[in-house]
Amino acid sequence: MNATIKGRNEIKGEVKVGGAKNAALPLLAALVVNPNVTLLNLPDLTDIKEMLNLLQKSGINHKRKENVTSFSAHDLNGDLSAIPSKIRASILLLGPLAVKNGEAILSYPGGCSIGKRPIDIHIQGLKAMGFDVKIEENFLRAKISHKLREARIRLPFPSVGATEHLMITAAMLEKTTTYISNCAREPEIVELQKFLNSMGAGIKGAGTANIKIEGRSNFSTVDFKIMGDRIEAGTYVILSLINNGEIVINGVEESSLNYVNFLREIGANLIVENSKIVVRPSKIKGFHLETAPYPGFPTDLQPQMGVLALVAEGHSKIVENIFENRLGHVEELKKMGANISVERNKEIKISGSQRLNGANVVGKDLRETATITLAATIAEGKSVVKNFDILYRGYEKVNDKLKGLGVDITLKD
Ligand code: UD1
Repeated sequence: MNATIKGRNEIKGEVKVGGAKNAALPLLAALVVNPNVTLLNLPDLTDIKEMLNLLQKSGINHKRKENVTSFSAHDLNGDLSAIPSKIRASILLLGPLAVKNGEAILSYPGGCSIGKRPIDIHIQGLKAMGFDVKIEENFLRAKISHKLREARIRLPFPSVGATEHLMITAAMLEKTTTYISNCAREPEIVELQKFLNSMGAGIKGAGTANIKIEGRSNFSTVDFKIMGDRIEAGTYVILSLINNGEIVINGVEESSLNYVNFLREIGANLIVENSKIVVRPSKIKGFHLETAPYPGFPTDLQPQMGVLALVAEGHSKIVENIFENRLGHVEELKKMGANISVERNKEIKISGSQRLNGANVVGKDLRETATITLAATIAEGKSVVKNFDILYRGYEKVNDKLKGLGVDITLKD
């Protein structure tokens, strides 16, 4: 699907963000622990549909009525090898399904092509917990091979997915305590602990570098509301800032918005209160930004910040430290006339106060497509964003929301 966007419209109004994709995916994997759950605010996204499809194939069914999704299960099936995995988060099912079934087989995880994205940290962690894990041609196989033992695992890097995967798996290992250090500390991990503990798990420490998990086997029925998407919110903040707009973003928890301080330091006029962000017209100064694991600046907002750098006053430098291939947006922005240089495939330099021209651009991954869509809103004339539907992986009802904020956008299949 392509989107035609006519740039330089007035941006104003209110928008409500959906449930956080990156919180919802691990919560869905955690349904293997206990499927008797009702989730509120599960976002309607293609990545979520992929996970629901995997769950269905493993025996966990869902019923959705508006914003409420209820789950139930009968017999669980751990062999998902017949289903190609389009999302990286599918790996979160490996350990949990192996605990439930004795063995789990998954096709190798897919996802955005933003770097090598290996899974060694997941696998080392499962092995340390007593699983036998094998990477076969296109498949991953995990088995509980010998008596499970108390495990002390130090992650070589604070991987978000590996922290979540090991937390969910360990929560189900009755009479076993697992200690994980150098954990990722993202708000989505705190959300996962909150969810698992609400059903009776014994997890402490999420949000810090050390997490302790006491495995249990009895879990209770719960209703749980998923936090708002901080990256979706940040993308709309940037939309407003680059257009000198005035918007209100609803539905985000203040405690998850660690990037707000950085934006304020570079001149953004933001009010954050009562689960909303008010963005006022602002004068943005050139900046030096480096992505880092939480509480550092999120890599999922790095490409979008490139557009802010284009309109800022003065020079900017942006360094991507998490993924080795997340600068794909640069070539597309250049098609719109942007003057950007890239060094060592991780560092971009942008001079400010630039004007863009409409062009035909194509998105190859989620945040790249968000970035070129943002750029199209400030470009002079018409742009065509090819593969616009990639955005439905992570931005709920994005077309309607952009229109509601004043963007002149039309979609064509
Ligand atoms: C999650 C988010 C993604 C975000 C990323 C970093 C979800 C569904 N996705 O992805 O949007 O960009 O965190 O904040 O929550 N790594 C390894 N070996 C591993 C695992 C990771 O080398 O076993 C590397 C990756 O290649 C990458 C870095 O660690 O360079 C960070 O990856 P990780 O934190 O695991 O990201 P994801 O959980 O995949």
